[in-house]
Amino acid sequence: ISLKEYNTFGIDVNAKHFVSVSSVNELIMALKNSDYPKKFILGGGSNMLLTKDIDALVIRVDIKGISVAEAGNGYALIEANAGENWHQFVLWTLQNNYGGIENLSLIPGNVGSAPIQNIGAYGVELKDVFHSCRAININTLETETFSLEDCKFAYRDSIFKTSYKGQYVITSLTLKLTTENHLLHTRYGAIQNTLKEKGIAEPTIQDISDAVISIRQSKLPDPKKIGNSGSFFKNPVISKKEFDSFIEKNPAAPYYIVSESEVKVPAGWLIEQAGFKGKRFGDAGVHNKQALVLVNHGKATGKELIALADTIISSVKEQFNITLEQEVNIIS
Ligand code: EPU
Repeated sequence: ISLKEYNTFGIDVNAKHFVSVSSVNELIMALKNSDYPKKFILGGGSNMLLTKDIDALVIRVDIKGISVAEAGNGYALIEANAGENWHQFVLWTLQNNYGGIENLSLIPGNVGSAPIQNIGAYGVELKDVFHSCRAININTLETETFSLEDCKFAYRDSIFKTSYKGQYVITSLTLKLTTENHLLHTRYGAIQNTLKEKGIAEPTIQDISDAVISIRQSKLPDPKKIGNSGSFFKNPVISKKEFDSFIEKNPAAPYYIVSESEVKVPAGWLIEQAGFKGKRFGDAGVHNKQALVLVNHGKATGKELIALADTIISSVKEQFNITLEQEVNIIS
């Protein structure tokens, strides 16, 4: 079957065999299926670039359900199953007045993918509210629970992308959210400006979510209309020494200090300066409002998008001596 509908980049490749599972038991049965020794796990398909047909049993994790695991004093532990759409889950938390993930509104993908790359936006990362997650070990088929420490979260990174890559299927996620005295994250200039424009002096979590939604809609393409995977590259972190020489040559560049020895430079700025913003090569292109996002205007193939990414990487390297790294998982 075609996987076009199952990846937000809208890449039209085929899966030899496909099954959608709606419970942990069905997932285990699919993983046990010895007719197809090779398995490929698919969540929301929002952080991957498919480059060819998949010669395996594609297992789409569609396990739904949200529950209150524990109600404490001022907080609650909320467990969401992996197949819930992330943004629908955020909306559910707002309706029920749970605070903590309002800044993560409108991020494409499913709940089960959120820990893998430690999703983050507008000053909040998943790790800030993460309590634990459950995952099936592909080799033993046992369920294991991972604590915050176990996951080794870092900027767009976790143990599920490194040492445990391909070894676990996340089945649920438990977050520690506030039920009162919500801690608001309004540090980002874009959020402050949006609230000010609306005349909101004392924002609620719903106001923050609304602001994030309007900011994202103003610069990020809707995957239902134009195929994309959000940020295609990570924002590069460079040493203080490299930064000093970079900023001397590029005094107008935006940047964020990460630590005494490291500085983060926005990849979108570098790509725009290199002249790629809004450029199009066939159906593979660079978004015209945010250069960090590569887009599929229709029939681009994974290989065409990779070729574009490689061209961008070498131009940025040549112009700024900074090496961009992909954020998206390339399936080849
Ligand atoms: N910029 C440009 N040109 C561009 C894009 C950005 O000059 O085409 C400049 C902006 O003017 C600004 C700076 O770069 O000064 C940062 O831009 P922005 O606030 O849009 O954020 P970002 O660093 O490009 C990151 C995340 C986004 C997240 C936003 C907000 C990464 C790889 N990306 O983007 O995450 O929404 O911050 O927190 O860290 C995603 O991961 O899919 C994603 C969209």
